[in-house]
Amino acid sequence: MEESLDSVDEWMAAGGAALLANVPMSPNRLEDLATHAAESTNVAVVDFGCGRGAFAHRVAELAPSISVRGIDISEETIGHASAVATEAGLRHLRFEVADASGWTGPVDTAVCLGSSHAFGATAAMFDRLIELGARQAVVGDGFWHGQPDDWCLENLGEMPRSISELTDSATARGWAVDELDVSTLDEWDAFERHWGEGVRTVGTPGAIAFAQQRAEEYDRYRGVLGFAWLKLRRA
Ligand SMILES: C[S@@+](CC[C@H](N)C(=O)[O-])C[C@H]1O[C@@H](n2cnc3c(N)ncnc32)[C@H](O)[C@@H]1O
Repeated sequence: MEESLDSVDEWMAAGGAALLANVPMSPNRLEDLATHAAESTNVAVVDFGCGRGAFAHRVAELAPSISVRGIDISEETIGHASAVATEAGLRHLRFEVADASGWTGPVDTAVCLGSSHAFGATAAMFDRLIELGARQAVVGDGFWHGQPDDWCLENLGEMPRSISELTDSATARGWAVDELDVSTLDEWDAFERHWGEGVRTVGTPGAIAFAQQRAEEYDRYRGVLGFAWLKLRRA
């Protein structure tokens, strides 16, 4: 498939725009995690790598008296998130374009959903959230649920090889795991389907081939790539 980087960016953006969030997360799960963040935060929630901002937005709706911030390196996603927040009149919700790894500021509850790479990797994320002084965290992160083949490792990279390796990494860095869950196959299937539908809305042969390629790739990692959900507090 011949494609320019601009085209790929456009297709990826169209895929992302079709999703509730750019992670395999059902609406019920978003509601549960956002409610947890809203109810247990005194001062500030910061969503690192917030993407288009749906999670931060929901926390802000649920908790009018706390500060909610979303940080992402992408101007495009932050532009969208800021416009939605302004339209909703949520003045305690702010979005900013920044590199999460260098960000400093007040944070009670840190949120990092599919964005640990913004800190380098999973372990570095756990460390950095402690350094920032977060008392609790809501984390969604990948791990190898099954045995990854060479293609998976080459294209999706190294990740914890089991859910216990992921939780051990959190506890070794000073976090206690209050709740743990994994995305269901239904959440994964919906995530991939909606993403593909979004890409196809671009309507060009390149976009349609791109979506088709991802659908074929999904067959390789379906049920092998896992996604864990953790509610964490400082141990
Ligand atoms: C898989 S998406 C998840 C987005 C969002 N958490 C959600 O649930 O929709 C990863 C996000 O991390 C952002 N990102 C990547 N590197 C980053 C960095 N160094 N600092 C801040 N954001 C970063 C990307 O722009 C992207 O929006």
